[in-house]
Amino acid sequence: MSTNKEKIDELREKKAKALLGGGEKRIEKQHQQGKLSARERLGLLFDNGFYDEFFIFAEPNKQLCDHPNAKEMHADGVATALGAVDGRLAYAASQDFTVSGGSVGYMHAWKICEMGRKALRDGAPFITINDSGGARIQEGINALRGYGEIFYHNTLLSGVVPQIAIISGPCAGGAAYSPALMDFIIMVKNTGKLFITGPNVIKEVTGEDISAEELGGAMAHAVNSGNIHFVAEDDEDAIAITKKLLSYLPSNNTEEPPYTGSCELEIPNDESLNSILPDDPREAYDMFDVLNKVFDPGSIFEIQADWAKSIIIAFARLNGRVVGVVANQPNYMGGILDINSSDKGARFIRFCNAFNIPILTLVDVPGFMPGIEQEFGGIIRHGAKMLFAYSSATVPKLTLILRKAYGGAFLAMCAKSLGADRVAAWPTAEIAVMGPEGAVAVLNKDEIKNAADPKAKRQELIQEYKDNLLNPYVAASIGMIDSVIEPMQTRLYLSIALETSKSKRELRPQKKHGLIPM
Ligand code: HXC
Repeated sequence: MSTNKEKIDELREKKAKALLGGGEKRIEKQHQQGKLSARERLGLLFDNGFYDEFFIFAEPNKQLCDHPNAKEMHADGVATALGAVDGRLAYAASQDFTVSGGSVGYMHAWKICEMGRKALRDGAPFITINDSGGARIQEGINALRGYGEIFYHNTLLSGVVPQIAIISGPCAGGAAYSPALMDFIIMVKNTGKLFITGPNVIKEVTGEDISAEELGGAMAHAVNSGNIHFVAEDDEDAIAITKKLLSYLPSNNTEEPPYTGSCELEIPNDESLNSILPDDPREAYDMFDVLNKVFDPGSIFEIQADWAKSIIIAFARLNGRVVGVVANQPNYMGGILDINSSDKGARFIRFCNAFNIPILTLVDVPGFMPGIEQEFGGIIRHGAKMLFAYSSATVPKLTLILRKAYGGAFLAMCAKSLGADRVAAWPTAEIAVMGPEGAVAVLNKDEIKNAADPKAKRQELIQEYKDNLLNPYVAASIGMIDSVIEPMQTRLYLSIALETSKSKRELRPQKKHGLIPM
């Protein structure tokens, strides 16, 4: 019979073996590839490197997994743990590539789901670190069953606790759909690969030639597909981005985001804002110049910075209060709304609303993008997402119109009629059904054609339109905006609006869910 000490020694030995995953040699191989091991990643994520790992002794069910070394698949290839991130509880699942390539068998998937269930129960963020060869081939369709259950849990958690996926290694085939169902994807350059079908299959089926990096590397998704939200230099950077992101988020949908300010509002006017816009309304400028002056210094945290750049989405703080910022970027395609920028904005609005984050919208939008490609691509459906997302959001919605606010795109940038709680405009605002050139072409077609000097007539009519209609006062006269403010007062105005709307409560009719155009 073993003594207690022997039993404890045996436990220590078993634990040490399990925690080494596929062994030191394979961990060394990870390092050579520029990757950390599954547990090194968890150590970086959680405060003081401390975390409580669950199901260390899990192994593939022998009836399900026809693998000669199933017993050696320590922890079934995924480290699942809870710990604190900046003092707040979080749950994580970190795939261990050193164990059968981090492949997903049923037990592996069950462990990930179990972490999701605990995160849901405790109202804590759920983080997955993906580094896997995909469905474990030896487990056949049981691996698929496991994936299905992961997708189901991602969906259950959606809108209840924040979900963040880090892509540190391969994540291919159907496996890519778990990150896609989560709220934010952070992808590591060079090592992360995300695609449904890899280069070889593509070559086989369509004859197209492309490298894995060009197809599914971090930059491919950051710039081309918009599937991911942040690009990380390496695993350490990915963890740092995760922590920064969490610093803006509540732990769950019943909490408010972390508040880092004081109750006192000491907000001097910023005179430089009065001259920040170019005098020529057709001249571009960088919206970040405005954002940096309006929000707390260094607090702007941009999301999807390299995709659909005519719209900016970001978290920021205003006197320590977290807000979601949606702003047109006049520096890129004039700040126009197109298919991708509508998708980008709408999804972010939905996230903010789900997690009690007030939305601040800064408007300088010339309209929706014209063109056959946009029309055939479904700009009607995609643009409608912005309308739906804003209209259904019940968090405080504050809108500031800086310059152009034309037509449907003006409405789609959270006009008062979409339920904005406060709408202010700078005196430079141009709120109109359409721009002057387009308007006179429709309204005064014959007058221009029949004029002695059609060019001069057109100019005269454009000027008349500008003088009469391209200002904020027509909208102010019928209550479409609350105030016309001097730009230098913006920070004060928005701060008061935010503080006074923080207790906002809005009731809507009961329904299962609305049908956002998808
Ligand atoms: C079982 C796997 C595996 C898998 C890798 N391994 N992927 N075992 N099932 N899916 C094992 C390898 O056999 C090897 O084991 C170890 O992991 C490391 O793999 P290597 O190939 O040596 O590593 P590397 O050269 O870095 O290549 C990594 C890789 C490659 C690109 C991911 O392993 C690969 O292509 N794997 C198969 C990918 C795949 O087709 N997966 C199934 C997709 S279908 P040993 O013991 O030799 O060290 C799918 C459907 C999901 O996922 C649908 C969900 C809805």
